[in-house]
Amino acid sequence: MEVIIQKDKGSATKLVARLLANQLNETPTMTLGLATGRTMEALYDELVRLYEAKEVDFSKCGSFNLDEYVGLTPEDPNSYRSYMNKWLFDRVNIHKAKTHVPNGSAEDLDEECRNYEALIRGAGGLDFQLLGIGSSGHIGFNEPLSALRSLTRVKALTRDTIEQNSGLFPDPSMMPRRAITMGVDTILKSKRAVLLATGSSKADIIAKAVEGPLTAIVTASALQLHSHCTIVVDEDAAAKLTHRDYYDWIFQNEPEWAAYR
Ligand code: GLP
Repeated sequence: MEVIIQKDKGSATKLVARLLANQLNETPTMTLGLATGRTMEALYDELVRLYEAKEVDFSKCGSFNLDEYVGLTPEDPNSYRSYMNKWLFDRVNIHKAKTHVPNGSAEDLDEECRNYEALIRGAGGLDFQLLGIGSSGHIGFNEPLSALRSLTRVKALTRDTIEQNSGLFPDPSMMPRRAITMGVDTILKSKRAVLLATGSSKADIIAKAVEGPLTAIVTASALQLHSHCTIVVDEDAAAKLTHRDYYDWIFQNEPEWAAYR
């Protein structure tokens, strides 16, 4: 795991956008794993900016989103499919047919989950998995006690998560109580994972995920098992990390980061 600390939200977001764009330029046919949430809105704005500046091209890639609320149709304005259309897919040249978001309104949800997992495997797995982190320490909607070997399935959301996300619904009571999510193991199988967290509200959970024990209570801590995971944070989200001298030293000295300094 590497931890990259940037001075503010803007530079942390730009760094992640450049990482993704560079990988996509290297391998245009890659499969992206995409995330939602407020943090990602700025990231998608930056990717759109790079696209408009002709610095990145989405025409050959495919994508799989981490999760979707159970009970919402793809057309529902509060669905993650609508979020993705609004923030990214409608603004760049990605082929919509190659974008995947679980269908939260499927009649047979278990079958939908199995099919989603099979589609990811069929595409050759996820090459670049983008992640945010929820206040409960979740990645995707892998709430506390999610099995570290879990695959795509339905999860009941915690009260914490409902509080964190219900403000995004026109009426908080409209927020679904369950979601389909890629499992922890689905995420761990990605070839590269990049987690972006900004703001002081993420400081405690970032410290637990990065420097705390590996535990299913904080599913983001499972990223300590990932073979190539980068955590990008701003100063506020990094505030509770204790080994930052080492993290900064890596970023300042390792050749792979030269282009990003
Ligand atoms: C939702 C998503 C998570 C994401 C989290 C972060 O809960 N299911 O994948 O990490 O939001 O949200 P925000 O960026 O709004 O803090």
